[in-house]
Amino acid sequence: MTSTAPIGVFDSGLGGITVVREIAKDLPNEQVLYFGDSANAPYGTKTPEQVRKLAFAIVNNFVREGVKAVVIACNTATSAAVDALREQFTIPIIGMEPALKVACDRGHGVPQHVIVAATPLTLREQKFAKLMARFNSTNVIYKQPCPALVEIVEHGQLDDSELVERTLHGYFDGYDLETIDSVVLGCTHFPFFRDYFRRLMPSSTAIIDGNVGTVNHLRVVLEALGQLAPEDAEGTIVLSNSDPSERMTTLMHQLLTR
Ligand code: SIN
Repeated sequence: MTSTAPIGVFDSGLGGITVVREIAKDLPNEQVLYFGDSANAPYGTKTPEQVRKLAFAIVNNFVREGVKAVVIACNTATSAAVDALREQFTIPIIGMEPALKVACDRGHGVPQHVIVAATPLTLREQKFAKLMARFNSTNVIYKQPCPALVEIVEHGQLDDSELVERTLHGYFDGYDLETIDSVVLGCTHFPFFRDYFRRLMPSSTAIIDGNVGTVNHLRVVLEALGQLAPEDAEGTIVLSNSDPSERMTTLMHQLLTR
């Protein structure tokens, strides 16, 4: 069994495009409808109630468009809304989670020193507290909110290397980076900064994001339901945004191919 229905993917803004790129690589026959809520970004400094309300409106629209699954390509919206969305909707709702397990498993029993970079809301939410509780008795885990990185992506300032480097130094200069085994990018906006992180961190520090894991999970779920697209289907990506400006449309397309 197969299905040509689209997959709905959303984020508070542009970060989820890093997940769309991964879907296009791994599931090239799928039709993807992407919605970036840039008019309401950032989510990471909102209350969980505000984020849930926004997430419900987006998923309702996706359901009206006939999607077969939704990917919440946003750690913050996942933290605040995934459980409530799963209660309300019958289609699969795939969420994101900071890849802390991947980072800690790298130690094969040797305690790992890990920085989780994410939004303030992701790091404050119960979902992260539960994840942290699984690993922090045997590892050293630091929580680092990085809200300004979201703003830099949303404002199209990724190539302003002085701004990006100054911002990263502000967040990470307080750490003894030589002792850090991994940095987990716990926000889908952050993989756009991978090269900057690479230059800042010692070469022995791994930089890990959750995108591959999320897309693997999507594949497994669709496969189990017999809803993967047929192998001869042509994959498509349609990008839309709550900010309808030309600047935003151009930025989204640039980030898709970046
Ligand atoms: C934000 O809008 O603050 C970022 C969302 C995320 O966690 O990916």
